[in-house]
Amino acid sequence: LSISIETALPIQFLILLPIASMLIAIIFDSRLAFYFTVTNALLTAAIRGNDYSIIIAMILAGTLALFTVRDIKSRTQIYRSITYIFIGFAFAVLIEAVQRSSSFSIIIIELGFGLINAVLSAFLTFGLLLVLERFFGITTDLRLLDLLNLQHPLLRQLETAAPGTYHHSISLGTLAGTAAQAIGANSTLATVGAYYHDIGKIPNPKTFIENQTSTENIHDSLDPKDSASRIIQHVQQGLLLAREHHLPPKVIEFIYSHHGTTLVSYFYQKEKVANPDDQSLASRFVYPGPKPVSKEAGILMLADVIEAATRTLEDPTTEKIQKLIDTLAQRRLSEGQLDDCELTLKELYEVKKSFLASLSGIHHVRIKYPTKEEADAAQRMATRTAKLLSLPSTEDILKERLKKSEPL
Ligand SMILES: [Fe+2]
Ligand SMILES: [Fe+2]
Repeated sequence: LSISIETALPIQFLILLPIASMLIAIIFDSRLAFYFTVTNALLTAAIRGNDYSIIIAMILAGTLALFTVRDIKSRTQIYRSITYIFIGFAFAVLIEAVQRSSSFSIIIIELGFGLINAVLSAFLTFGLLLVLERFFGITTDLRLLDLLNLQHPLLRQLETAAPGTYHHSISLGTLAGTAAQAIGANSTLATVGAYYHDIGKIPNPKTFIENQTSTENIHDSLDPKDSASRIIQHVQQGLLLAREHHLPPKVIEFIYSHHGTTLVSYFYQKEKVANPDDQSLASRFVYPGPKPVSKEAGILMLADVIEAATRTLEDPTTEKIQKLIDTLAQRRLSEGQLDDCELTLKELYEVKKSFLASLSGIHHVRIKYPTKEEADAAQRMATRTAKLLSLPSTEDILKERLKKSEPL
């Protein structure tokens, strides 16, 4: 169009290449967006008959545009994008003006067209993103940032129905987000995943120890098989609620994978004592999985079990927290729960270091439980953790079964 429309105006400055640069940077990554910008600037110049001045303009504007959305934190960054795209065009116009000794009026007209491009590119990019997110199921960081809002209906429901789980999820958000940042993974995704991972506890909050405020525990009157099945169900319930509220697939992954294929060992051991000869027992106490497949989901799986366990530590010192982190991470690793999640051993080391720093900071200022109910609840959780830590891991149980040649 910029060639075929006959006009004296510099309409080549209206080529909206910065839109593509920004969209690719947001949906994929900034390196790919940079390659795309350079290639397309060259192609545009070639189509326009070796118009090298457009190469400079498009590379400058496109690169600055993608730079503004590289680390997107809110939709108000649109104004930053407008400014930087305009700066890119302004540079190109001035370089050309110096070279061709252009008149002042031409410079002003070209700058005006550059400004129009900057405004159009920024608004169209942010508008197109909404369409792409909705129709192609793409989860951008902007969508994730919307989900961080604590006023989201699901988080409000979680806070009202299951306050214990809500507080666990929010502190898990910080823990997992910081750890993800430490290894260069997506910390926003890890935090959002943490906020929503246990929403499946909303329908039956009292099944879970963190929401039991009275001394009464509903599991006292339940068969261990029923207890385990009610606990395992929170994964399925979570998936239903997530779909109902249109959570993006990237976030749903955290819901179904945060327990992987681990065993609800407390109730399994209880049932095993009562029913030692049942061959198919283990299969009824296992979460359906699958295991985490992303680094962020792997971090969440570790953070989940560690956060819940550290809350119950009597007088938590750095040494005690470190021992707990090492034991629980090692257990998940040897159970093979982290096999599919791409975390390297070096990253795992960094993640554990980050957990220790965050948890030591949190527990350093922890005050004593103020009421008797809370103290009782804490005591129950402490007993539970102590039992969990002394129990054999899923791997031990499976090995033992293999030795006896019992079906798994
Ligand atoms: Fe859970
Ligand atoms: Fe959890």
